[in-house]
Amino acid sequence: MGEITVVIIRQAPPAGAYRQTYRVPRAGMLRVLDVLNYVYENLDPSLAFRNLICRDGVCHACFLVVNGKRSMSCFTPVRGLGDTVEIGPAPGEKVVRDLVVEHDYDLPPGPPVVFESDPHGQADDHG
Ligand code: FES
Repeated sequence: MGEITVVIIRQAPPAGAYRQTYRVPRAGMLRVLDVLNYVYENLDPSLAFRNLICRDGVCHACFLVVNGKRSMSCFTPVRGLGDTVEIGPAPGEKVVRDLVVEHDYDLPPGPPVVFESDPHGQADDHG
């Protein structure tokens, strides 16, 4: 099955953005959200991203840019993305940290937003 090279555009404002590369096993990576969870759980717990309870295309808060296309991480299959996957924050939004942005729309009512990682970098001070 091999591995995927995952390049994540990270940022801890006010510092500028930088790219960080990870090697992730392809096996078991169905969606981009699975890749982010793998990186967080196995490689780098300092990575910040929105990991919402919805995970079903309902809350629309997991938008990212994946290989140059605006995509929902919970819906975007890894298959077909190629051997290198570049993941960045949603465009046009203020970056809080890494892949977490301030949305310019209200999230719908429902389960609370859960950050699986630490969006404000209190566990790590990269950048
Ligand atoms: S996690 Fe809700 S739409 Fe992706």
